[in-house]
Amino acid sequence: MGRFWRLVGTVVLALFSLLVLAQEEDDPVKEAEKQKKQLLEQSGGVLPSDLFVAQGEQLFKAKRGPKQASLEACDFGRGPGKLEGVVGRLPRYFFDTRRVEDLDSRIRSCMIRIQGFKPEEIKRSEVVAIAFYLASLSNEQPITITPVMPQEKRLYELGEKLFYLRAGPRDMSCATCHVSYVGRRAGVLPYSDLLKDKRVASHWPAFRYSNDQAWTMADRIRACYTVLGMPAPDFYSEPIIALTLFMNVQARGSKMDLPGFIR
Ligand code: HEC
Repeated sequence: MGRFWRLVGTVVLALFSLLVLAQEEDDPVKEAEKQKKQLLEQSGGVLPSDLFVAQGEQLFKAKRGPKQASLEACDFGRGPGKLEGVVGRLPRYFFDTRRVEDLDSRIRSCMIRIQGFKPEEIKRSEVVAIAFYLASLSNEQPITITPVMPQEKRLYELGEKLFYLRAGPRDMSCATCHVSYVGRRAGVLPYSDLLKDKRVASHWPAFRYSNDQAWTMADRIRACYTVLGMPAPDFYSEPIIALTLFMNVQARGSKMDLPGFIR
């Protein structure tokens, strides 16, 4: 009898540890943390995202473009040169461009206004690298975004509408997967809860170790439009900025983990 119960105990323990293991792998954020730790140990403390940050810093500080100016004169919402925490305050309205801009579109509009680049000359890879540099300066800062200007409120409402709008050949919305399907999974990955899980918006821009790519929120949104079977909105366009604004407001109060390191 004693042996029997010991056996039951062993089996229960094994099942329990399996359950714990499975739960850990269920959480993509925890899984990413594990991968990050491993990678840091193997590489002696350097992550792939550090390379984008370094490249972005160089691009940010160099005098470039027809006007031979650096981006240090660009105001990201706290005044020129004040870069800490700006990612958690974007998208926001800027008086100089009279537009609500997210991180990507603000970098682009400063490259146009301050450095004199033509829109068609702006390389997406440069915008992404500069976004990674600015993200590194917002690490561990809170998301504090609050739409107050009428332009920001209008875009927030547009973002909310787009988030719930069912369209495309599959008659789905962002909310279909990221609210209704939360708890189910897409392949190996569980659908992220974009309304309640504040970690989601706070780790973009991010390095995706599964396919070795540096993505900003705009890349993520565009990829999800493809999943929806719909044409993706252009980079720097209003739908992208509106959805980003809506999602970032949901994550208000969370501490940013930047640049993100995700699956
Ligand atoms: C058919 C299901 C589906 C729909 C519809 C969908 N997504 Fe996604 N989304 C995914 C999957 C799957 C992932 C995770 C993929 C990965 O990380 O490899 C994801 C990831 C994301 C992430 C990153 C989450 C994180 O944890 O960092 C964001 C943000 C996002 N989607 C936004 C949107 C928006 C905005 C829309 C609407 C335009 C949308 N999604 C529509 C399936 C969907």
